[in-house]
Amino acid sequence: MRAIAIEEFGGPEKLKPMTLPEPKAGRGEVLVRVVAAGVNPVDWKIREGWLRTMLPHAFPLVPGWDVAGTVEELGESATRFRKGERVWAYARKPVVQWGAYAEWIAVPEAIVGKMPSKLLFEEAASVPLAALTALQCLRREPALGPGKTALVLASAGGVGHFGVQLARNAGARVLAVAGPRNQEFVLGLGADAAIDYTREDWSDAVDRLCPEGVDFVLDALGGEDQRKAFDIVKPGGRIVGIVGDPDADLARKREVAADFVFAEPSSEDLAFLGGLVDSGRLRTEVTKVFPLADAHEAQKLSQAGHVRGKLVLVP
Ligand SMILES: NC(=O)c1ccc[n+]([C@@H]2O[C@H](COP(=O)([O-])OP(=O)(O)OC[C@H]3O[C@@H](n4cnc5c(N)ncnc54)[C@H](OP(=O)(O)O)[C@@H]3O)[C@@H](O)[C@H]2O)c1
Repeated sequence: MRAIAIEEFGGPEKLKPMTLPEPKAGRGEVLVRVVAAGVNPVDWKIREGWLRTMLPHAFPLVPGWDVAGTVEELGESATRFRKGERVWAYARKPVVQWGAYAEWIAVPEAIVGKMPSKLLFEEAASVPLAALTALQCLRREPALGPGKTALVLASAGGVGHFGVQLARNAGARVLAVAGPRNQEFVLGLGADAAIDYTREDWSDAVDRLCPEGVDFVLDALGGEDQRKAFDIVKPGGRIVGIVGDPDADLARKREVAADFVFAEPSSEDLAFLGGLVDSGRLRTEVTKVFPLADAHEAQKLSQAGHVRGKLVLVP
């Protein structure tokens, strides 16, 4: 099969078109013909070797954890899907090797979901990883709901743009931090206020808009931005980081819950998200679709850190 893969860690130039053996559906797996593969920042982080101490890797390594496509073969004891069904998945597997930047991918059926009927494949491939991340972060206690305020950092990005919509769906007031180009975009997603981090320190704007402090921070930035989040969250509130581990001492001192979430594949959560998509309560913003052969260009753009919504590859 045609695929894009790396044979060693490094820059975008390491992504090479290769002809690799077609995968087979193993026990409990389905073989999916990839119609579209989502691009996530984790793809370039894997290419550069950032996750090598966290997960086992093997070469040649085909990146890509998000897929939408059709089921073409059922492995032994795989019973959840029929051949030809349109499916989507956050296809993170125990070993980082056979991803979605390819014509075919074998995925454990337990983490595959039926694609929402309203989505095109390019749209569906853009959803799983980022939307599952936002959902699994926002579900942390104390529950968000009417009367609560959520702050979303990097609100125009893959995770953030789903986070804004999910927090809004939960009934919370949503403050969204984004650059000047994305102010209207995040307001259109349902944010109650957009904060332009290039005009002023976003924490000053939060102080002004919500002097009593926010209940929840979805931190998709990490570093100094995460540290500042401790200044604007109420005692009893929560910070969820997806880039770096929050400072546990600072959390104790400020009496806030703070943790790191690493999104888990889940067909139940995917089904929940699919329901929201089909009922018009969650949408995805696909900024650009690249041919698979241009995966290096897509990763360069992702790595530059200012993609609105999502990028997608089509083989
Ligand atoms: N732990 C996990 O399970 C998990 C899961 C998914 C993602 N992540 C990580 O979380 C991070 C975000 O992921 P993503 O997919 O959402 O990334 P992304 O789509 O690449 O995020 C790009 C967005 O970030 C915004 N941005 C950049 N600098 C900003 C700043 N200083 N303040 C506010 N917004 C800023 C940009 O908006 P502007 O152009 O308007 O600045 C752009 O829309 C990545 O590091 C990713 O690896 C972790």
